[in-house]
Amino acid sequence: MASERQYSPVDRLLLQADAALRTLLPFSGASSRPSPAIVQNETELSSEESRHVAGLMRINHTGEVCAQALYQGQALTAKLPQVRSAMEHAADEEIDHLAWCEQRIRELGSQPSVLNPLFYGLSFGVGAVAGLVSDRVSLGFVAATEDQVCKHLDEHLEQLPEHDAKSRAILEQMRIDEQQHANSALAAGGVRFPAPIKFGMTLLSKVMTKSTYRV
Ligand SMILES: [Fe+2]
Ligand SMILES: [Fe+2]
Repeated sequence: MASERQYSPVDRLLLQADAALRTLLPFSGASSRPSPAIVQNETELSSEESRHVAGLMRINHTGEVCAQALYQGQALTAKLPQVRSAMEHAADEEIDHLAWCEQRIRELGSQPSVLNPLFYGLSFGVGAVAGLVSDRVSLGFVAATEDQVCKHLDEHLEQLPEHDAKSRAILEQMRIDEQQHANSALAAGGVRFPAPIKFGMTLLSKVMTKSTYRV
């Protein structure tokens, strides 16, 4: 896009800072699509169930923080403009996910993870480095990350209380979107990561899920 070339390094830095703040500050992510949960009825959850679902939604929210940071890092260093714009489209959808998850966490009387700034920083760095290596690696990283997210979502959908229709509606729409992100990253030329790298990513994601379930 012609307009993209007009950004100076300072402009880019300010845009990055804006994206980081909109991801990390409470109630700051405005979704472009309404939450799939609004058409579902709220059901009574026991305090035990509420705590568990809030923990799961907190993991998903931090996953979205990581996705947002990964995309922002990649957008900074990706070389091809079409890679940038493809990622910016996916990043917009992640903002929806972020806002839906936060809203649900608050409805359940809890709050997002205090570790989010740490995970944002880590993911941003990984995204920027992947973008520097090559666009194909960068897109491969998106595909591998989204696969990981889909696995989490499948596990969480199984663990949700049967009657929690609101959380279920959110996770089901996210599952559809994340699969789409993975497919479009591969279709745009992303490399398929070998099993050992995927295994390493699984271990890292375990650290994230164990910690953010609680805090
Ligand atoms: Fe997402
Ligand atoms: Fe995604």
